[in-house]
Amino acid sequence: MARFPLRRAPRRAGPSIDDRVRDLLSRMTLEEKVGQLVQYSSREDMTGPASGSSITPQLEKGEVGSMLNVVGAAETRRWQQIAVEHSRLHIPLLFGLDVIHGYRTLFPIPLASAASWDMARIEQAEHIAATEAAAAGIHWTFAPMVDIARDPRWGRIAESAGEDPFLGAAVARARVRGFQGDGSFAGTDRVLACAKHFAAYGAAQAGRDYFTTDVTERVLRDVYFPPFQAAKAEGVATFMAAFNDIDGTPCSANPFLLDQVLRREWGFKGFVVSDWGSIEELRAHGNVADIREAALKAFNAGLDMDMENGAFGPHVAEFVRTGKVSLARLDQAVGAILAAKFRLGLFEDPYRFSDEQRQAALLLAPAHLEAARDLARRSCVLLKNKDAVLPLKTSGLKVALVGPLADAPLDQVGTWHAKADKNDTVTVRAALEKVYGAGLRYARGCETQGDDRSGFAAARAAAAASDVVVLALGEDVFQSGESTSRASLDFSGPQIALLEELHRAGKPIVLLLMAGRPLLLEKIEPMVDAILVPWHPGTMGGPAVADVLTGAYNPSGKLPISWPRSVGQIPLFYAHKNSGRPEPLRPKDPYFSRYIDLPNSPQFPFGFGLSYTSFVYDQLRVSAPVLTESGALTVTVRVRNIGRRAGEEVVQLYVRDRVGSVTRPVRELKGFQKIELAAGEARDVAFSLTPADLAFWRADMTFGAEPGDFDVFVGPDATASLTASFKLD
Ligand code: NOJ
Repeated sequence: MARFPLRRAPRRAGPSIDDRVRDLLSRMTLEEKVGQLVQYSSREDMTGPASGSSITPQLEKGEVGSMLNVVGAAETRRWQQIAVEHSRLHIPLLFGLDVIHGYRTLFPIPLASAASWDMARIEQAEHIAATEAAAAGIHWTFAPMVDIARDPRWGRIAESAGEDPFLGAAVARARVRGFQGDGSFAGTDRVLACAKHFAAYGAAQAGRDYFTTDVTERVLRDVYFPPFQAAKAEGVATFMAAFNDIDGTPCSANPFLLDQVLRREWGFKGFVVSDWGSIEELRAHGNVADIREAALKAFNAGLDMDMENGAFGPHVAEFVRTGKVSLARLDQAVGAILAAKFRLGLFEDPYRFSDEQRQAALLLAPAHLEAARDLARRSCVLLKNKDAVLPLKTSGLKVALVGPLADAPLDQVGTWHAKADKNDTVTVRAALEKVYGAGLRYARGCETQGDDRSGFAAARAAAAASDVVVLALGEDVFQSGESTSRASLDFSGPQIALLEELHRAGKPIVLLLMAGRPLLLEKIEPMVDAILVPWHPGTMGGPAVADVLTGAYNPSGKLPISWPRSVGQIPLFYAHKNSGRPEPLRPKDPYFSRYIDLPNSPQFPFGFGLSYTSFVYDQLRVSAPVLTESGALTVTVRVRNIGRRAGEEVVQLYVRDRVGSVTRPVRELKGFQKIELAAGEARDVAFSLTPADLAFWRADMTFGAEPGDFDVFVGPDATASLTASFKLD
């Protein structure tokens, strides 16, 4: 972390935040209270449709509580001044922004950092993101996105931690800790976090963004809720309601989600913001006739803040006057928003976060860039390495670097780039030029779109003059993220034609897959010698990729998703049910759950990733044959590095509950540890299991484990074959 004197919060002696909130509420008019529920975007930097009219008069009347997309110390100060100096009660604004994988120093996209399985470094990255954003006046990030994503057609899989609730929950905790620290906001290096999008936004039918979802309550609770619960347990300050409807009720007006589960069951005390326009969209959902009704439904369901809907501002005061909304409900929503402002110390110093000097000192600080490089290389997943073509020698080797992603400063950063400047990005080309100098021949070859093949000849010539081809293909920045669902997961444009052209040149090919989602590899895999997936690796992606290609860093990333062979297999995830016909009942019996034209299995399983060294697993043992209700078991495995260099391995523990009152997944991740082993070193890795780890939503919709037989599997990915069993008594 870059060092810079943090601005400490003025000492807050005296009344508690609750008392101060109560006191302030008692002095506010109805209109001022409703104003706190209203959030507008800066008119310069929109992330959705909006009216575009000036909001200054409302700010001066104290009728805006928060703004988004206002960035920079000077800009936030300017808007804050209007609110604080002109309004009657001088209530400061809360500034929110999508700081999704960094502010100015961009880290790898969230799907990539999840592939590092390195919770400490993920936390550190979010701390750095918070430090930079806070210096630029931001109080609140709309992150982490903790939606489980099992459909790579959905562009927002790039923002997720992938398919698994257990990994997703661990990543959610790390991100919230990174953004909020201990939650005291004593320094100016932390921001409020927001767990989004509540809930099951990632379950959009057919992978189409904003589309409807149809998820049972059991699947919600077993699969989609755990990362949200983890964020809540970590003290996340806010939640964002999702765009989608579930079982006919849009999430932004869903009392089951916002009131019953979030507030009553989980005891959440913060506030819930709508997504951009998601209250207004209740009309299009066909759930209300007009915006007034939408406002009433959403507010009474438990939604507290209106992001660019124009719904709460004009209507909530009237609802209170006519008794359609209780004053207690209004005070609860306003109180939670005011409490967040008190927590941040904004009433003592509304400009506490907007500090031009700190901003200048901290943005892109060398320590931040170093951390971004480190996380980016830890996020790279090596999927294939035939005949150890990688790592590449660093001397005496001629390298052809080809492809539309090889020198693409904006595409490399990926979706949601906050304040990233493409001039900050160090591309793969820049980094490899540093390593190979005149030994590197670069040719772009083609674009990700269109069908222009005029660059193929130069690419062929570069390959012909080199010993190895590094081919950087994938997705550009506009192909990944919000509203970028894809019906095809093939490489777009003439990228495959370029690969075929280079394949004919006969040189070894190292494919760099730089994208926000898995792209189909089945047909092209035989044409390449190595496949390395750096995803969209961020500002320092170039040096990170160079570190991995040259072996300065031994890859350790593991897939946070199952990699499909075909779009037809989607949704594809390892924790599926067994079905009544999992395998042929008799040899050659065709009547089982399968495709006639493709295996069921993914091309690469969840948890998979190679290293330049090799690990073997043996001596799996369970400390006792029986686990009792109040007891614990230890599952231990010996992991040995049998290669010639040090490396890191993510040791994974899966459990299968053989018989349940409802059908159970064929296996579920219940533990992982990332360990480093020197060449030849062996280590025992131990996991503890208690009945709580085996709990699920049973047939009667109670949560708990059921006695019976369990299998454990330990290994390097979701297909781990080393197995043992125990009984839960
Ligand atoms: C819409 C997105 O769904 C949400 O994630 C984001 O925070 C808001 N826009 C604000 O930009």
